[in-house]
Amino acid sequence: MALNIIVVGTGYVGLVTGACLADAGHNITCVDIDQTKIKRLQDGNIPIFEPGLEQIVKHNVEAKRLTFTTDLISALPKAEVIFIAVGTPALPDGRANLEYVYTAAETIGQHLNHYVVVVDKSTVPVGTALAVEQIIKKNYTGEFAVASCPEFLREGNAVDDFFAPDRIVIGVRNQRAADVLLEVFKPIQGQKLVTAIESAELIKYASNAFLATKISFINEIAQICERTGADIEEVSYGVGLDRRIGPNFLKAGIGWGGSCFPKDVVALDQMAGDGGYDFKLLKGVISVNQEQRAHFVNKIKNHFNNNLQRQTLAVLGLAFKDNTDDIRESAAIDIVQQLVTAGAIVNVFDYKALTNSKMVLKNTVKYCTSPEEAVKGAQAVLVLTEWKEFKALDWRTLKQTLAQPVIFDGRNLLKPATMCELGFDYHSIGR
Ligand code: UGA
Repeated sequence: MALNIIVVGTGYVGLVTGACLADAGHNITCVDIDQTKIKRLQDGNIPIFEPGLEQIVKHNVEAKRLTFTTDLISALPKAEVIFIAVGTPALPDGRANLEYVYTAAETIGQHLNHYVVVVDKSTVPVGTALAVEQIIKKNYTGEFAVASCPEFLREGNAVDDFFAPDRIVIGVRNQRAADVLLEVFKPIQGQKLVTAIESAELIKYASNAFLATKISFINEIAQICERTGADIEEVSYGVGLDRRIGPNFLKAGIGWGGSCFPKDVVALDQMAGDGGYDFKLLKGVISVNQEQRAHFVNKIKNHFNNNLQRQTLAVLGLAFKDNTDDIRESAAIDIVQQLVTAGAIVNVFDYKALTNSKMVLKNTVKYCTSPEEAVKGAQAVLVLTEWKEFKALDWRTLKQTLAQPVIFDGRNLLKPATMCELGFDYHSIGR
């Protein structure tokens, strides 16, 4: 059954959720306070790069299942479900800023006149659904429900993840709300897990924190590999074959970034602290991730006898991972900034993230439109994002254009044996 659904917030989560739910057959109104963004979306312009999303948006706008508006109040009378998917950026102390969530709740409370299920989709601390409920109740005394359905989409894979999720978590207080949300997600295959609201809220943080832990763990094992002669790729493969551990998120490199892990692990640590618990393991996970970047920069500095002044370095990859233009908390950007501070001349290239990078790196680096341009005349190449395309480059020809055949592969993307055969002085992580 097609439901009338409002999605508040057309950021990453809101846009993917709205577009995909429309594609699943529901009638979706996506709301945002940003008029320019709404205008652009109405014209079919997607503000982010996400494989498959643009086609889904266009198709569903044409099919009239997906509309964009700045007017939440006018959309309310028909709504059966409202997803709150607004941004929850980190405050200076690491806590999530819930201002936009609460503003949405207030508007809903002031104008509601029938039963709806109000669902937190943004990543919000445990207790937020309760706070949302209380805010709505200040102005609305009729029946309604709050719920929490955290999202587990990966950037670059969001559309596929939406339609083939490992699980859909539905945090509710009663069966009526559960039934409505089970209907919303009925067209999507995958296990539906109905839980208490607080459990759903925590499942989100615990999942991201655990994935970040796996990466920091394997990065620490990589450190041991470098000191013992073991090869991290072999170790990680061997460890991952144990089905209790699994092979994913065991890729060693320059560490995790993005708009989620860094924010969520710090927020979970804060949440634990607020409850009087010192989350020791998570603190280690965070500091290992920082050290991993410093360790990589030190490798480069050591190679240049601690003097990067006027050395030309070619950076391949700026996005926090492949298949995205997102550079938020990107390890690559952090590393580039450290190299620039140390006096290096840095040529940068990325398949999608150059525009976003310009806003942050400004005129401190040289922007290149191809890997070939970045590499030409450089003293070393640094691979900082795991774009598969870098693997397929013609490294033999690139080598001829380099001033020195040196590679620092921060993502273990290339094969050491092949690179050595080609005559590169090849450095990577944990091998
Ligand atoms: C992450 C989670 O994977 C999603 O499940 C979650 O929904 C999302 O956060 C969110 O909270 O919104 P995402 O930030 O898109 O998704 O990126 P990931 O694919 O998880 O990668 C995060 C970082 O870890 C990247 O910088 C990546 O390069 C790094 N990484 C990943 C590794 O260094 N090693 C690995 O083995 C895997």
